[in-house]
Amino acid sequence: MSFKDFCDKYAKQIKSMSPKYDIFYKVSKDTPIKFEDSANVLLSAAAIADTHLPNREAAEANLGNFFEDLSNSPEKFDAFLMAGDLADYGLNSEYERFFRPIDNQKVVQNTFITLGNHDARFFFNKNSKIVMDKVEKYLNIKTGGKTYYSYDVNGYTFVVMCTEKRVLEKAYISKEQMEFIDKELARGTKDGKPVFLMCHQPFAYTHGLPEVWETGDLGEQNDEVRAIVEKHKNVFFINGHLHGGICDKVFETLNKENGVHSISVPGYRKENNFGITDCGVGYYFEVYADRIVFTARKFLTGEYIIGDYTKKEYKLV
Ligand SMILES: [Fe+2]
Repeated sequence: MSFKDFCDKYAKQIKSMSPKYDIFYKVSKDTPIKFEDSANVLLSAAAIADTHLPNREAAEANLGNFFEDLSNSPEKFDAFLMAGDLADYGLNSEYERFFRPIDNQKVVQNTFITLGNHDARFFFNKNSKIVMDKVEKYLNIKTGGKTYYSYDVNGYTFVVMCTEKRVLEKAYISKEQMEFIDKELARGTKDGKPVFLMCHQPFAYTHGLPEVWETGDLGEQNDEVRAIVEKHKNVFFINGHLHGGICDKVFETLNKENGVHSISVPGYRKENNFGITDCGVGYYFEVYADRIVFTARKFLTGEYIIGDYTKKEYKLV
């Protein structure tokens, strides 16, 4: 489909995007992040999604708050996960704002990012190169022109899935990518360790889909990809896209017997749709030998959030 035909076809959805947030938030040092059992944490990571950065100074500064909050903590963070929709319209100026705080941060060594539909919908080739060049730089890996990759931290495998072509909302996952995911999940879980899989779009019929968003799922390859993911044990699937807030829809078990779980990370920049709707919220997780604990955090202001679905512990199988 040509670029013009694409814009004509989806004119209504494209017009509905209207970012206008210019508040500069401050990070509190009063309640820094504290792990449950710091001495025994084997891996730790913090995940956000849907920064949808516009070319606004406040938006860039507010993303910087995420790293400021981590740096105020006595805990060590091994990985930063950003589950797609980095930029709002996919413009170069937005990526400059998005990547500057990451380039300047010194608190997390390993950065994992993936493209969301807002990154891929207008300028897929240009933006996938911008994003993957950064991935290569941050992790010191070669991705060979692909938009998906994997990397190990502290002996734990992170696998990042991504659309391979322009999409309005859903992802396109090739057979080759499915084989890669299968192989990497097998490799990462062979000694009984959990693996962290990230993609922007969640699976169909999870996290309130399709009621919360009729067309908000992964797309055509949904069933094939899910079948691959469910084959493996202790897979934690981190996704965004839904802007669901801290609510009963965040944690979803995909396969109980194999301990395969899906976590819908709230949107960072805008207010979310359900439950605790604060913007600037994500989850950090602590990995122990036999369990993983997810905790909600308002990184934007350096605060814990009180309420249901702010903490979840998974026993590994
Ligand atoms: Fe999205």
